[in-house]
Amino acid sequence: MAGPPQSSNSENIESNIDAGLATLRAQFPARFNAAESEPSLREENAKLLGKKGELTAILKQLGAVAPEARKAIGERVNALKTEVEAAFQKRLATIEAAKRDAELNARPFDLTLPGRLAAPIGHAHPISIVRDEIVDIFARLGFQVHDGPEIELEDYNFTKLGFPPDHPATDMQDSFWTTSGHLLRTHTSNIQVRAMLSQKPPFAFIAPGAVYRRDDEDATHLPMFHQIEGFMVNERVTFAELRGVLTEFAERLYGRDTTIRFRPSYFPFVEPGAEVDVRCVFCKGGGCSICKQTGWIEILGAGMIHPAVFEHCGIDPEKYTGFAFGMGVERIAMLRYDIPDLRMLVENDPRFLVQF
Ligand code: PHE
Repeated sequence: MAGPPQSSNSENIESNIDAGLATLRAQFPARFNAAESEPSLREENAKLLGKKGELTAILKQLGAVAPEARKAIGERVNALKTEVEAAFQKRLATIEAAKRDAELNARPFDLTLPGRLAAPIGHAHPISIVRDEIVDIFARLGFQVHDGPEIELEDYNFTKLGFPPDHPATDMQDSFWTTSGHLLRTHTSNIQVRAMLSQKPPFAFIAPGAVYRRDDEDATHLPMFHQIEGFMVNERVTFAELRGVLTEFAERLYGRDTTIRFRPSYFPFVEPGAEVDVRCVFCKGGGCSICKQTGWIEILGAGMIHPAVFEHCGIDPEKYTGFAFGMGVERIAMLRYDIPDLRMLVENDPRFLVQF
């Protein structure tokens, strides 16, 4: 009674085990593939191979199998276990590779977002702003812009303008000389000479540009700075025209309530010569620290063109007269923007320049 039923029971269990193995073999690839993440894959693996796993449950039935059949069935169970383990490792590698890929391809930020910082856009230097404004005023009054070289002949910078060689006035404008005997122009008055040599009156020019003097730099001196020259030549040009043009200029630059005054002064290329002041734009003439309590601020030199200059340039001084003036752009910019030190204009510190 013990033999056959026992052996048939053992055969039943054997076929149960084989059926279970067949089911698992059919299922596990799809179950692993359905796991998208490492934790869910490990969970699935534990359901199959863990202590309470399905394969482990099958293995437990082995004890009930007839001893002579155990080895063969045990090998089939182990073979499936090896397959499952290999499939687990393969799927794990796939999931890890996909994760690395996703990390590598991830954008550090969203490229489609609008930018937070606009690229900073520059603007004109304060010297250029003031120069353009002054040139603009004279252009509207009918003056044409005249350009000219910064490396100049001594003749055009000094001699034809009435500075004889070794004239003391050349000390005021101590020059940079080249080894070939040229100099860096010390003022824009060289343009008067160049215009008179090349044009026939009547004409009216405005000539902005850089000039150079051998000064030690400090708060009020730089070896390079900017001037604007203006001059007009025609028959019967008088001091009244000079005064009228400069008054109109000052009113357009500083407002209609501005007044100017002329103080006699000396420049070799004008007669009479003058220095021109505007009534202090800060205290309106009452006296303050900027105008040093005088109520006036000097802004330019001017005068009637000297007959000798006309003669040097081939223009008949009996027929023609003219006026000329020259102003420093830095000085007007410093007054306009309340800049205490000239050097700030050349240091190119963006914290300074951004304010204009
Ligand atoms: N060139 C003179 C200077 O640099 C200024 C000036 C120009 C004076 C024209 C009179 C007429 O100081």
